[in-house]
Amino acid sequence: MIVPIKQIVDKARKGKYAVGAFNTSNLEITLAIARAAVKQRSPVIIQTSESAIKYSSLETIYNMIVNVAETVGKSVPIAIHLDHGKTTKVIKDCIKIGYSSVHIDASEKDFATNVKLTKPIVTLAHKYRIWAQAELGAILGKEGLVKLKAGKIKMEDLMTDPLKAKEFVNKTKIDTLAISVGTIHGSFKGIERVDQPRLQKISSLVKIPLVLHGGSGLTTAMFKKAIANGISIINIDTNLRLAFKKALKKSLKRKTDIIDPRKILKPSTDDMQKEVSKMITIFGSKNKA
Ligand code: G3H
Ligand code: ZN
Repeated sequence: MIVPIKQIVDKARKGKYAVGAFNTSNLEITLAIARAAVKQRSPVIIQTSESAIKYSSLETIYNMIVNVAETVGKSVPIAIHLDHGKTTKVIKDCIKIGYSSVHIDASEKDFATNVKLTKPIVTLAHKYRIWAQAELGAILGKEGLVKLKAGKIKMEDLMTDPLKAKEFVNKTKIDTLAISVGTIHGSFKGIERVDQPRLQKISSLVKIPLVLHGGSGLTTAMFKKAIANGISIINIDTNLRLAFKKALKKSLKRKTDIIDPRKILKPSTDDMQKEVSKMITIFGSKNKA
């Protein structure tokens, strides 16, 4: 059932657990997230990137998520979030159509520009009584990792400065803050880490919920420590993509004569559900619906 995101995240903060924000772009992923949430009796955030919106259309994906949330997921709290919104029109459209929360990601800009671009989105989001997330510090992806490995950039320079984070939150009045503490978008086991002392420092200065992006590839111990150090929302995308592809490959090899997409995709949906369930257990949101 769709509920205000505040209800989900406030409860998580009080209970000292984190809520998973899982990316979707189609029906199978959405079903997997909702089914896992129901089975685990857990709240979840279902999120779409701008490219996921482009893949179908805002109306299509939004209504599909709401429909799944109100049918399959009717017994658990679910919020809808725009992930890494970079286009003002898309962000505004998501606010107006009924998203629970939007992420205005101007993290690649300088501090002042980031503040300037974030503020009007916060005002509009609050007018619609929803939450706004913004980001300070850079969270690398695959290309960034290449530069990192080549020594062209340093992870330390990209991470969120705790004092700047405090100033940023005060100036923008955002509801949640995405921080850079060593994680990378994608699954890069052995390379990704969480700078726990930095996270502790940010937590001590910033009094709003903190969001850990780039969750895939982290170990259970890293997640648990990050939650103990103040993370309330954890974004997961790649883990579900990997589960989808692995099961699909097997499925296509095993039953070459089957052409029914539902039969071909079922193992992928089931395995993504297992992956979401696993994350829910690690994050501590099991039985918190
Ligand atoms: O915004 C989405 C994420 O931060 C997901 O990152 O693909 O590493 O799980 P991930
Ligand atoms: Zn992210």
